[in-house]
Amino acid sequence: MGERVGVIGAGYVGLTSAACFTQLGHQVVCVDNDQSKVDDLVRGEVTIVEPGLTELVRDGLGSGRLRFTTEPPELSDVDFVLLCLPTPEGKDGAADVRVLEEVVATLPGLLRPGCAVVTKSTVPVGTGTRLAELLGRPDLPVVSNPEFLREGHAVEDFLRPDRIVLGSVPENRAAAERVAALYGETNAPVWFTDPASAELAKYASNAFLALKVSYVNVLAELCEHYGADIRDVGRLMGLDSRIGPAFLVPGPGWGGSCLPKDTAALLRTAENAGVDFGILRDAMKANARQRAAVVRKIRLAITGVSDGSLSGTRIGLLGLAFKAGTGDLRESPALAVARELARSGAVLTAYDPGVEAVEPDIVQVVDDPYLVAKDAAALVVLTEWPEFRELDWERLAAATERAVVVDARNLLDPAAVGEAGFTHMGLGTDPNR
Ligand code: UGA
Repeated sequence: MGERVGVIGAGYVGLTSAACFTQLGHQVVCVDNDQSKVDDLVRGEVTIVEPGLTELVRDGLGSGRLRFTTEPPELSDVDFVLLCLPTPEGKDGAADVRVLEEVVATLPGLLRPGCAVVTKSTVPVGTGTRLAELLGRPDLPVVSNPEFLREGHAVEDFLRPDRIVLGSVPENRAAAERVAALYGETNAPVWFTDPASAELAKYASNAFLALKVSYVNVLAELCEHYGADIRDVGRLMGLDSRIGPAFLVPGPGWGGSCLPKDTAALLRTAENAGVDFGILRDAMKANARQRAAVVRKIRLAITGVSDGSLSGTRIGLLGLAFKAGTGDLRESPALAVARELARSGAVLTAYDPGVEAVEPDIVQVVDDPYLVAKDAAALVVLTEWPEFRELDWERLAAATERAVVVDARNLLDPAAVGEAGFTHMGLGTDPNR
């Protein structure tokens, strides 16, 4: 029969949760204050790029188990309310929870007794306690159930999670168990803990991923110095089951709407507690330096020196999004590199399968990868779209002025593009020149 679930916020977390819980057999009403977004969703139009999501939304609408509305009173008969609201970076790096608090303040007048108030979006440690105070109704149990969805894999991550985390005070354990039951049969470990541990686990995971990538980016620099190859070093590290193979590929740095904001927020949380989380600060500094390192490599590839002038030089960019599988440009290191190149006077053309346009004064976005090569002094791979490997590299070589590719994602097979006529420069793969 399924449970009655309310979701507040139809962003990528809220929409994925709403659609997936419908798929798991529940009745879901999703509330968002953006009328035009709700109008689109009611028609089955999903504007975010997320594999499988449109189909799930349309199935849910078709079965009548999923509804979208701008009217919060429609939450009056639900037994669960999932808070899927933005917590952007605010002052001094701290997460800004104002929207969340404003919405929660309206809930006591709407919800029926026993309704579980579930925080799904990433909230600073202590938020659960604060929300319980704001609600001021002991009959509304607060449960922390952080999401660990990756953009581009949100549906898959929701339906086949690595773990399900539920944080509550002991009195609300039964409510936490009811929330766990919403996920139905799953092979994932379901872990009950206190609210602070659940909240911190989310930040700790994202910040650790950021540390891992910064670590490998610095290692790549070291590899260049000593003539080692980061692809081997990363692979050999990853074979250690305590380390694992993921997040060991160097690139222009970590970006997106989560890792930068969450590392800054965790650092701020640590500072508030008087704890020196210096390694996190170092990872953030390394991340900022990484963009500059990629720009230096591009200068070197084109001019022969790492501080050579790029004024008037045509450069073709493959990728602008912060990672493959999304068109998201938020905190994109690829876009940061493009901005820096444009500031240095380079003339940029870019192709990204997920991006239609960006600021036209920085880069001209085209819808044909072969156009970016036209008369370019170099091509630069900035986002790791697998399809870039399958391009006709001989055709690209013929279009360029100089067949040089800076592979800032170590995506390409150097031998294959070499055969096509390109000089390939990766990160941490060639000795320092
Ligand atoms: C991240 C986490 O991976 C999710 O678990 C989490 O739920 C989500 O944030 C969130 O808090 O909502 P996402 O922002 O989609 O997900 O991005 P990731 O897939 O983690 O990638 C982050 C960045 O690291 C990207 O810029 C990516 O290109 C970079 N990266 C990743 C590398 O440079 N090298 C790697 O080997 C892996």
